[in-house]
Amino acid sequence: MNRDIVCIGAGYIGGPTMAVIAKMNPDRKVIVVDINQGRIDAWNSDDYELPIYEPGLVDVVKEVRGKNLFFSTDVEGAVKACDIIFVGVNTPTKMFGRGAGRASDLQYWESTARGIKGYANGDKIVVEKSTLPVRTAAAMEAILNDHAEHRFTVLSNPEFLAEGTAINDLVSPDRVLIGGPQDEVGIAAIQEIVDIYATWVPREKILTTNVWSAELTKLAANAFLAQRVSSINAIAGLCEATGADVEEVARVMGADHRIGSLFLKAGPGFGGSCFKKDVLNLVYLCESFGLHTAAEYWDGVVKMNEHQQERIVSRLIKEMFNTLANKKIAVFGFAFKADTGDTRETPSGVVTRHLDEEHAHVVITDPKALPNARKDLADITGKSSRIEFEEDPYKAAEGADAVLLMTDWKIYPSLDWQRIHNSMRKPALVFDTRNCLNREALIKIGFKVLNVGK
Ligand code: UDX
Ligand code: UDX
Repeated sequence: MNRDIVCIGAGYIGGPTMAVIAKMNPDRKVIVVDINQGRIDAWNSDDYELPIYEPGLVDVVKEVRGKNLFFSTDVEGAVKACDIIFVGVNTPTKMFGRGAGRASDLQYWESTARGIKGYANGDKIVVEKSTLPVRTAAAMEAILNDHAEHRFTVLSNPEFLAEGTAINDLVSPDRVLIGGPQDEVGIAAIQEIVDIYATWVPREKILTTNVWSAELTKLAANAFLAQRVSSINAIAGLCEATGADVEEVARVMGADHRIGSLFLKAGPGFGGSCFKKDVLNLVYLCESFGLHTAAEYWDGVVKMNEHQQERIVSRLIKEMFNTLANKKIAVFGFAFKADTGDTRETPSGVVTRHLDEEHAHVVITDPKALPNARKDLADITGKSSRIEFEEDPYKAAEGADAVLLMTDWKIYPSLDWQRIHNSMRKPALVFDTRNCLNREALIKIGFKVLNVGK
């Protein structure tokens, strides 16, 4: 076996992860392949206009691209050349048939596995990087090894990076998790993957388990994080009703080290490609094993999240004299969190659709996510649409009745809010769903201010 690595899937997971692995393993060749030619061209572009925005990513790619990191659409060639195969293709929520709206759509994963089997020219280690339902590795192992000329050992190495901090999360992870069969071949394969990470991650942070534990850990970790966000948002509603302040509550709760201070920020609800998908996956998994009460419990996390976005729109309508028709609302931030251009499952998208249904005139501004916003809303935007996109937040707010802040981009608190107030229609409202602006300063300027959980 050689030590070279191919990763199938040049997305948010595959790109950054392989860039860091290549940087930390200069003696290994790392090839990232994808069936999407446009994506690969962007990874290879001379001006480093990469397909995803991630702080620090360009610097790593500049360091290693063309040295030991390569991007290509030649899946067959790369599978032949490398004996370690990571798979990071997307596994969206299934939208048809059994488990529709909950289960993962594994068709890309399966076709990738069949491709690997067809192209392989020797024994290979296949590593799951995508988040997958528990027992997918077993299914893949069955497909790969049935009447196969070569031996395929399937491992699970879930990725815990968060978007916006991906490079730091990869360089200094809390832990690296590698699951594999607990037999001689499996343990040897696990060691091969441990060696990749051990070039920079302290050995005690590299945890090994059986495959199923690794697969379930990823779902469980994301479900716990999502559950914290839903829990604090449930408290936020109560704060608004009672006069308590959710930030004070979270600060004091978080001081209990058993609870901890992270993931206690109330806001518009969680977005991103993982949380909702993974919680729904867990729901489906529980249901399929007859664990209906557990399924309902986790389903509540997603329901609470949806409720949070509805609550935001209801409060806005109430505060704007019960009608949004023809009122201009500047939506500040479309990305699902700051420091990314990613808009998958973004609360901003859900809220924009509600505002459009109310016939509001919505102007969306975002420093990185406007291209994705345009794509996401293509079905409701067009010639006669009331939705506009504007890069400049000052222009977006001109003549607006309200600014609805949805993403906590660092630039927003430092804008000239006096200037924004001057240009808006009065009474001017700011609804800061991330509690990131200086509330007192805004009130002093003359804004009516709404927050989540206050
Ligand atoms: C990842 C994981 O795959 C997913 O399981 C996890 O929950 C979230 O993050 P991500 O990297 O964000 O997905 O997905 P995406 O950016 O969509 O990238 C996947 C890439 O795989 C795409 O570029 C797509 O073109 C590619 N792909 C898909 C293939 O190369 N072959 C296929 O057969 C299907
Ligand atoms: C998440 C996990 O953190 C990561 O470990 C996993 O690999 C992928 O899924 P990501 O979705 O990129 O990462 O971002 P994350 O920082 O977890 O935020 C998810 C969502 O929750 C965002 O919409 C964010 O705004 C929201 N959030 C997070 C809150 O509303 N409050 C918080 O306190 C934390």
